[in-house]
Amino acid sequence: MARVVRCDRSRPYLIQVGGQNVAICACGLSKNKPYCDGTHKITRDEEAGKIYAYDEQRNRIVVQVTDENGNTVTLPAETVDE
Ligand code: FES
Repeated sequence: MARVVRCDRSRPYLIQVGGQNVAICACGLSKNKPYCDGTHKITRDEEAGKIYAYDEQRNRIVVQVTDENGNTVTLPAETVDE
């Protein structure tokens, strides 16, 4: 079973637990959830109007874009490598 989860945030939530600072993953890409492992850094150059997907090796593909008329266009993942 698999599911797609959409995350818009490109940095962790910083909280305090027992007096210690803890970074909680909010990008959805950490391999050490719920904790941030720094992987969010690969999302920093994502462009507005696009939706990205990442595979297990953290390779990125664009899966959806917004055209000049504001229409959403979903792309077949295998044809849109950047
Ligand atoms: S916020 Fe997800 S890895 Fe840092």
